[in-house]
Amino acid sequence: MGIITVITSGKGGAGKSTVTAGLGFALASLGRKVVLLDGDAGLRSLDLMLGISEGAVYDMSDIFEGNCEPIRAVYPSPACEGVSVVPAPIGLEQMCSPYDMRRLCGGFAKYYDHVLVDSPAGIGRGFECAIAGANRALVVTTPDMVCARDAQIVGGLLNQKDIPSRLIINRLRPAPIISGKMPDVDEIIDVAGIQLIGIIPEDEEVAIANANGRQLPTRSNAAVCMANIARRYLGATVPLAGLEKMI
Ligand SMILES: Nc1ncnc2c1ncn2[C@@H]1O[C@H](COP(=O)(O)OP(=O)(O)OP(=O)(O)O)[C@@H](O)[C@H]1O
Ligand SMILES: [Mg+2]
Repeated sequence: MGIITVITSGKGGAGKSTVTAGLGFALASLGRKVVLLDGDAGLRSLDLMLGISEGAVYDMSDIFEGNCEPIRAVYPSPACEGVSVVPAPIGLEQMCSPYDMRRLCGGFAKYYDHVLVDSPAGIGRGFECAIAGANRALVVTTPDMVCARDAQIVGGLLNQKDIPSRLIINRLRPAPIISGKMPDVDEIIDVAGIQLIGIIPEDEEVAIANANGRQLPTRSNAAVCMANIARRYLGATVPLAGLEKMI
C-alpha cells in the first residue's frame, strides 16, 4: 500500500499547492510513482502547476458521481514521468464528502507509492475532506507568526485524528532573519509546535515554474531544498542547509 499524505496549512497562500507539486516531482525523480489529488474544490491549481490544464476532461467530482472510472480522471504530467494529477472539481457544490475521499485515497494507494492530497485553505469542510484518507501530514507555514499559529491549530486538529505531521517553512528570506528583523526559524517552530522536516527559501524560480507548468530547475535553491525534503520524507538523514546557503 502507498502512503497517503495531506499537505495543509490553515492560512491561505502558504505554499500548499507548490509543495504538493514540488514534492511530487522530487519523489518521482527518486523513482516513486506519485498521484496528486487536488482537494481545492472551486479553486484548482495543481493542473496548471503540472502542465495538464488544457487536456483535462474529467475531475474528481466525475469519479464520485460515477461519470467515469477513477483512472480516466488521472492525468500524467508532461513535466515529469511518474507524476499524475486528479483535478479538483470546478464548482464548490461538487465538493466530496470525507467518506468519498477516504475511499478514493485508499483505492489510489493500491497503485501508487504516494498519494499526495493538496488541501484547501482553512479548517472547514474542505480540510475535513482532504485529511479524511491521510495517514501522514505536511503542514506548510510561511515564516511569520500568524501563519505559524494557524499551523499550530491545524497540527492540533491532525493530532486529534492521530495523523502525524511534520512542518515545512516556505518562502524563507534569510536576510531579514540574519539581521534580526524577522523571527528566526526556531521561533516559528516553537509557535507551530510541529517537528520540522525542511525549509524552502523564497525563490522566483518557484513562481516561474508554477506559471508554466514545469519542474523547478534542478539547481535552483528551492529545488535543492524540495529534493532534501523528499529524501527526509523517505527516511534519509539529510542535514538542513545553513541560512547563508539559501541567499
Ligand atoms: N518558495 C517560494 N518562492 C516564491 N514564490 C512562492 C514560493 N512558494 C509559493 N510561492 C508563490 O506563492 C503563491 C501561493 O502559493 P500556493 O498557491 O502554492 O499556495 P497555497 O497555500 O496552495 O494557496 P491556497 O491557500 O490559495 O491554496 C503562488 O503564487 C506561488 O507561486
Ligand atoms: Mg493551493
